[in-house]
Amino acid sequence: MQAEPSERFRLLVERAASGPASALREVSGPARLLSHIDADGISSASVLAWLLLELRIPFHASFVKRFPEDPAKELGESYGLLIVSDMGSGYRERLSGAASRARVIVVDHHEPVGETPEGVEELNPHDLGIDGGQEVSAAGVAYALFRATLPDGPRPAHLALLGAIGDVQSRNGFSGVNEEILRQATEMGLVEAHTELRLFGGPEYPLLLALERTVDPPIPGVSGSSSGALEILESLDIPPKTGDRMTTLSDLTEEQRRALLSEIVKRLAAWGQRASPDQLLGTVYTLLTEPPGSPLRDLGTFATVLNACGRMGRADVGLALGLGRRGRALEAANRVLSEYRRELAQFLDVLSEVQRVEGGVLFVDGRGRLRDTLTSPVASIAARSPPEEGVLLVAVAAEEPENPGRVKLSLRLTQEGGESGLDAGELASRAAAELGGEGGGHSAAAGLSIPASELQRLLALLAESTRR
Ligand code: C5P
Repeated sequence: MQAEPSERFRLLVERAASGPASALREVSGPARLLSHIDADGISSASVLAWLLLELRIPFHASFVKRFPEDPAKELGESYGLLIVSDMGSGYRERLSGAASRARVIVVDHHEPVGETPEGVEELNPHDLGIDGGQEVSAAGVAYALFRATLPDGPRPAHLALLGAIGDVQSRNGFSGVNEEILRQATEMGLVEAHTELRLFGGPEYPLLLALERTVDPPIPGVSGSSSGALEILESLDIPPKTGDRMTTLSDLTEEQRRALLSEIVKRLAAWGQRASPDQLLGTVYTLLTEPPGSPLRDLGTFATVLNACGRMGRADVGLALGLGRRGRALEAANRVLSEYRRELAQFLDVLSEVQRVEGGVLFVDGRGRLRDTLTSPVASIAARSPPEEGVLLVAVAAEEPENPGRVKLSLRLTQEGGESGLDAGELASRAAAELGGEGGGHSAAAGLSIPASELQRLLALLAESTRR
């Protein structure tokens, strides 16, 4: 029988207390913090940065797209500690050089590969029989380390939940360690969960703006259009204002809410998108410390903001938000989010010109048009509404500016691909090994980086694997 969520969380805290937490107390000199650029990378780095601030350990944080070949190069003369978060376990052998020069702590939830080198303190749920893919994010693991180091200190449980939401661990509610973290956040009065329509900004955000700004899924004629958002409300007799303030989802009657949901599903279906009410309706998490009307009050939206910051090269803004800065940091985040949306929409407008179907693969060639950090959202969006039946896999390519001659690809299964039993992670690691690249991931979402000269061979290999 599986242990209770609280027991599983306790296991993680105990492991943290026996290794990494004591290493943190013995550190001399400033720390170097390396994390991943996605929402979980920024959330986990925020927890760790908060902890270092509490411990009065000065630090220098950097966000990277993938784990460096030799992380020891990140250590100058003065750093006494290297903390790696949301990566590292998959490349344990690369850590030995750094471990010979400084203390090294790894906080990760990816499947470990190989042995942990001597001198590295690693906290990974997989080592404890806990599924890091589904029940805890890197931010959750960092939160366990925070609790182990400062049991009576602050409890940044909302950041742990943000990481889990960013890594899509909340599709049908949280489970395991995440469930326990949510229980703690709720008990503290930090977070409240409700079933609600999942729109940008959450239940207390102005509905007119929420409709205009929702891009997951994009609502035809409404997303990105203020007149379209107004029109859908008017068609349902929902006034955009209630008294002297903007109407929010929480103001709607049950009947109005149902009518809005069915209207959105109808519009998606009219555009050939198979959206089910379940995709639009779900648990939303309200961060009670944020004022109503702030986009960060909805944890799903907060995760979207962090993701946009990381992908647009402004993870520093995301870190500032994670650490509780608002004011100018929030203004900067709003600008980054608009720019992210604009860039994404611009590329989606030309999608039909740069895509082709080969076998069961929809290949989107973003080279020269798309930044390499945006292949992931484009692949996720394209996989939700493939142009024809029989498309099992979407592959989106872009050039890597830091590695001339290499391309980055994001792979996503379509619904049909998921039903066919295909495994994108397995495909990515096999193709990468065969073509002199690097890659991996999960069954529904994976990525790889290969020499550009191998792109044709990759497509042939993917097309072959998807032929039925
Ligand atoms: O980059 P993207 O979001 O498309 O990646 C999807 C998944 O594939 C992520 O979970 C990431 O960790 C994994 N991946 C990987 N190796 C790469 C690129 C992505 O394991 N080179």
